[in-house]
Amino acid sequence: MAPGPVFLLTLLSFLLLFHPSLTSSLSPPTTSTTISPTKSPSAPTPTPTPTPTPTRPSRSPSPSSTLDPKQLRALQSLNIPTTTDPCSSPPPSSASASATACDGATPFRHLLSLRLANCSDDLQISTTALRSLSTLTSLELLDCPSVAAVRFPPDLAGHLRSFTCINSLHKLTGVWLSRLQNLTDLTVSAVTVNASGPAIVLGAMKKLKSVTISHANLTGSLPKHWHLNLTHIDLSNNKLVGKIPTSLTRLENLQVLNLSSNQLIGEVPTSIGDLLSLQNLSLSSNSLSGPIPTSMAAVPTLIHLDLGSNQLNGTIPKFIADLKDLRYLNLEKNNFNGIMPFNASFIKRLAVFKIGENSNLCYNHSTISSKLKLGIAPCDKHGLPLSPPPAKDSSSGDDSSGRESNDDDYSMGDESGKSKAHSHGPSKVVLGVAIGLSSVVFLIIFLVLISKCCR
Ligand SMILES: *[C@@H]1O[C@H](CO)[C@@H](O)[C@H](O)[C@H]1NC(C)=O
Ligand SMILES: *[C@@H]1O[C@H](CO)[C@@H](O)[C@H](O)[C@H]1NC(C)=O
Ligand SMILES: *[C@@H]1O[C@H](CO)[C@@H](O)[C@H](O)[C@H]1NC(C)=O
Ligand SMILES: *[C@@H]1O[C@H](CO)[C@@H](O)[C@H](O)[C@H]1NC(C)=O
Ligand SMILES: *[C@@H]1O[C@H](CO)[C@@H](O)[C@H](O)[C@H]1NC(C)=O
Ligand SMILES: *[C@@H]1O[C@H](CO)[C@@H](O)[C@H](O)[C@H]1NC(C)=O
Ligand SMILES: *[C@@H]1O[C@H](CO)[C@@H](O)[C@H](O)[C@H]1NC(C)=O
Ligand SMILES: *[C@@H]1O[C@H](CO)[C@@H](O)[C@H](O)[C@H]1NC(C)=O
Ligand SMILES: *[C@@H]1O[C@H](CO)[C@@H](O)[C@H](O)[C@H]1NC(C)=O
Ligand SMILES: *[C@@H]1O[C@H](CO)[C@@H](O)[C@H](O)[C@H]1NC(C)=O
Repeated sequence: MAPGPVFLLTLLSFLLLFHPSLTSSLSPPTTSTTISPTKSPSAPTPTPTPTPTPTRPSRSPSPSSTLDPKQLRALQSLNIPTTTDPCSSPPPSSASASATACDGATPFRHLLSLRLANCSDDLQISTTALRSLSTLTSLELLDCPSVAAVRFPPDLAGHLRSFTCINSLHKLTGVWLSRLQNLTDLTVSAVTVNASGPAIVLGAMKKLKSVTISHANLTGSLPKHWHLNLTHIDLSNNKLVGKIPTSLTRLENLQVLNLSSNQLIGEVPTSIGDLLSLQNLSLSSNSLSGPIPTSMAAVPTLIHLDLGSNQLNGTIPKFIADLKDLRYLNLEKNNFNGIMPFNASFIKRLAVFKIGENSNLCYNHSTISSKLKLGIAPCDKHGLPLSPPPAKDSSSGDDSSGRESNDDDYSMGDESGKSKAHSHGPSKVVLGVAIGLSSVVFLIIFLVLISKCCR
């Protein structure tokens, strides 16, 4: 038998096997270059926020100088071990209660900072003890839910600069908190706060810089008047109603505003762009409507923008893609429409990107791969969502972690023209025919070879 036909058949099978459209569909997506945005070197490593370590003043000149005996007794009444001098021995980190700072006065030193954590159920804080502890400027209560809130003596209330109460004191009232008038830092979380509104609590605190009252079932509406030095406002997870007052946008030092998970209505104030120091903004899980204000383009420092789970509408403004520091963007579960203005390199840069469940929003499938599983439909040529959206896109809508969990599907290779042919679907048929043909070819070659050598 002449070698001609064998050679031709082999050539044919090679051509079929290595045709470019076939190889592209033969290689599974996992083998293409995957980019994991959360782990990419350009992604920011979260800088640990410097914990405000209480200043530990230099030791007093006299070595015999220890804690004021009255304060020592007060600590004992709070079950705090005093066998070693609370001022001179650094507290073990596991200690449930500790004096974290003392002053350097002679003959007796005084407590400046106290932390009570995981208190026993029978612990009671007496007014006498608190009166002795009125030198405190910082008081922290963590996980002491069964300790009852007693009225703080006026001296202590006036001295405190920082008060933290997390899952402690069972229940507080706005009036109780409002007596702490010299606070610069207030943190209350996982405690019921019974007040007619935040204004009762905050109105008298003229020096306040940072306030957190979250998971507190706080009712009422947002205050009309704010102290201009505020840098941090977190009133998330409460029952606040009404609109976001325009006066809030006059806080030019504000860096963090978190009003998520309340029952706020109305529009985002058009003057929100006046908050020139704003880094983290969350208004998620409210009932806000209307557009994203264009003034927000003036806030170049935004790192974290969460407007998810509202009824915001209109088109998504392009300027969001130009926010250089942005790392977290959540616009999911709203009523946005039109073409999503973000390209793949912008999305890749973010640590978190969520845009799903906006039924009138679509993406340009010639610039964005469907493999990103954004949870919105691709656009038709008029810029309207193709309906019904592809099944795999709608299924990923329930995936609240968005594309974080789909890193492997994010493939740069699919942004080239190949993805078009890919999405039009005939490649499976071609693949089947090709495999069939090449098996026939190989069978023939095999038979020819067998017949040759067995001759
Ligand atoms: C309280 O104790 C629990 C369990 O022992 C521990 O997980 C928690 O961190 C403690 N809380 C504080 C504030 O130390
Ligand atoms: C707040 O502190 C100032 C001094 O720093 C003091 O004069 C004033 O009485 C304090 N306020 C209250 C309500 O105790
Ligand atoms: C808030 O209220 C809900 C019920 O309305 C309750 O389950 C929850 O424990 C309350 N939380 C706080 C911190 O009071
Ligand atoms: C809050 O305080 C008001 C007035 O003091 C009282 O009538 C109301 O029952 C309190 N609400 C709760 C949930 O304790
Ligand atoms: C606000 O901050 C500035 C500068 O930090 C300070 O001078 C001013 O006294 C503060 N105002 C109030 C009301 O605390
Ligand atoms: C807002 O608060 C919620 C919980 O109260 C938290 O999960 C979220 O990270 C906060 N957002 C910002 C921007 O601080
Ligand atoms: C601000 O947002 C960034 C990015 O999501 C986060 O890492 C950071 O902890 C937030 N800062 C505050 C104070 O909430
Ligand atoms: C947005 O919704 C409001 C009603 O909440 C409506 O008046 C307005 O026309 C809508 N805008 C767009 C662009 O759909
Ligand atoms: C993607 O969008 C950003 C921001 O709008 C822009 O700077 C960049 O040039 C765009 N990249 C591509 C490849 O179009
Ligand atoms: C999608 O992007 C391509 C390339 O940038 C552009 O030519 C086309 O007009 C866009 N489609 C729509 C509907 O905007």
